[in-house]
Amino acid sequence: MDEAEMSRLKEIAGKLRSEIEYHNYRYHLLDQPEISDADFDRLMSKLKDLENEHSELYDPDSPTQRIGSRPLVAFATVEHKIPMLGLDNAFSEKEISEFNQRVRKLVAVDVIEYFCEPKIDGLAISLQYEKGVLIKGSTRGDGFSGEDVTTNLRTIRQVPLSLPKPLTLEARGEVFISRADFKTLNRQRELENLPLFANPRNAAAGSLRQLDPQLAATRPLKLFIYGLGKSELQLETQEATLNLLEKLRLPVNNVRQVCGSLEEVWAFCLRMQKVRAQLPYDSDGVVIKVNDLKLQENLNYTARSPRWAIAYKFPPEEKETRVLDIQVNVGRTGAITPVAILEPLFLSGTTVQRASLHNEDLIRDKGIMIGDAVVVRKAGEIIPEVLRVIVEKRSGTERPFTMPRYCPSCGSKTVRLLDEAARRCFNPSCPAQLVEKIVHFASRRAMDIEGLGPAAAELLFQNGMVKDIGDIYYLKFEDLAALPRIAHKSASNLLQAIEKSKINPLRKLLFGFGIRHVGEKASRLLAERYNCLENLKEATLDELQLIGEIGPKIAETVVLFFCKPETRLLIEKLSKAGVNLTEPGNQALVIAAVAGKTFVFSGGLENYTREQAAALIEERGGKIAGSVSRKTDYLVLGREPGSKLAKAKDLGIRIIEEKELQKLLGQTEAEG
Ligand code: IVH
Repeated sequence: MDEAEMSRLKEIAGKLRSEIEYHNYRYHLLDQPEISDADFDRLMSKLKDLENEHSELYDPDSPTQRIGSRPLVAFATVEHKIPMLGLDNAFSEKEISEFNQRVRKLVAVDVIEYFCEPKIDGLAISLQYEKGVLIKGSTRGDGFSGEDVTTNLRTIRQVPLSLPKPLTLEARGEVFISRADFKTLNRQRELENLPLFANPRNAAAGSLRQLDPQLAATRPLKLFIYGLGKSELQLETQEATLNLLEKLRLPVNNVRQVCGSLEEVWAFCLRMQKVRAQLPYDSDGVVIKVNDLKLQENLNYTARSPRWAIAYKFPPEEKETRVLDIQVNVGRTGAITPVAILEPLFLSGTTVQRASLHNEDLIRDKGIMIGDAVVVRKAGEIIPEVLRVIVEKRSGTERPFTMPRYCPSCGSKTVRLLDEAARRCFNPSCPAQLVEKIVHFASRRAMDIEGLGPAAAELLFQNGMVKDIGDIYYLKFEDLAALPRIAHKSASNLLQAIEKSKINPLRKLLFGFGIRHVGEKASRLLAERYNCLENLKEATLDELQLIGEIGPKIAETVVLFFCKPETRLLIEKLSKAGVNLTEPGNQALVIAAVAGKTFVFSGGLENYTREQAAALIEERGGKIAGSVSRKTDYLVLGREPGSKLAKAKDLGIRIIEEKELQKLLGQTEAEG
């Protein structure tokens, strides 16, 4: 093809591209399309055909290239040229006024103009444009560097791949999913048997961090740009900045206002609070910024946040509803928890039908009866709670609630121990407890087995296929597929998820066991100290308490747990199934001569306290015992040894001195 023909084709492609970008903007940003969807599709195919016929026309920034094709292995890291900080919070008119005082004092100006806009409950992102072309999009991360999510951000139709002007700038904003889209998304996931997102924010976060851009493209992500990062623009106010960003066809929220006084700022906050439920997106407050950019510059930043802005956070929404019933739930530890069944209501973004009442004391203290009108809110914007009873609304038909004397699941007598608020079922084979144990084991923070939620656990348990967590690893496809309500696809997905969970580190397995008082943190500490379950199961009370942050209560339940014959059987079952029982990471420290060996001390050491020596041995996978037996591998001889020495000699146990121990531990004398 000659040059003239090529440049003619390039011109056609260029025209088509800007035409498409323009209509994309009319449709996705302004909501005012000028052409029909069919006409838009025709423009798109025309461009696609042209690009396909002439590979020279390929351009990564063409609208045909919005959705990348290959899934990524991981996101690269992007350093932010200017840190992406958070905002300080204000919870009342008074705190906003205090913020205003601080600002006035620092810049020595009497009346400050503020720019107010809704605080969007999503995720902060940055879009970098170079000479008008989108070159990078990233998440906020820790504020200093984030993840390179360019491919996913490009799939959002509101994000222009190129600006109408060749400017170099960094636009910052918030990615979110609207409430309506969130509902549709979850409904669809329910049909596909996928885990549901808790709220629009989580859904947006999960979607933006999706490694497959094809999948990310199907998620209804939206965004609002609320400011500039590093840029070549010289502007005077926040207001002018947003007006310009809007002209550049970036998506800017049209709910925004310049406020000339503090009264106006507060009126804006109250108005937003009132209309909050009608906004199409979740908003958790109002961002109040000093409008004048020069003043912003003078005010500067603290290490955490700008001094020129504050976020007014809405008080949690409170609403009235009725307690239809109080039912009880048997948890995995046998605790019987009363739950209020509420007349469904829409509260802070989701429909609420239940609220935990925790225990009988709380019900008594708040005086809650079945049939009561109550005020509810969400604690921390997530967990519904009953705040108080509206006593004036009682009709006399309300009924008091009493905790059941017998377990609703197995019928055993329930007991409330002296020092506990909870009433419990102590039957270890109580079906409700077993099902809850399975659900906990499979939960995300434990072994993370997708598809093994409450419904599936109940089904498997009822059909006798999973009676304890060990059984999970012996499930067969034929058995699963024969169950009613389980499609072949879900059966094979579940088996795949189970297989995948086998390689989890020990800390997740430990947490999954659901040992009382052993949460995620204690599980991690135990796993890191003992490296493998083999070592941990022999740990003694004293030894466990040598770990900082492991107190007598945790130590006791751990020892009791590993004493039980069921636990031994369970470990065997897991091990046979190929479940990983070790903690990767500090394996480098495990030294063959020490790992799995039992050490006993006799007499004082020169260079270490006993605790220090014990810690060093344990870090390397060894164990400490208090007395000499046939199981002892080494007796460490110190100053003035006692009777243990004679016994060790008797049993022919290897006796080593401190120097030798240091060598075994890979410690030079200088280090000791
Ligand atoms: S301005 C220096 N405006 O709230 C930060 N932030 O804790 C200036 N956010 O992570 C941010 N809506 O992502 C600003 N209209 C808005 C916002 C907004 C939501 C987020 C932001 C930041 C967090 C602040």
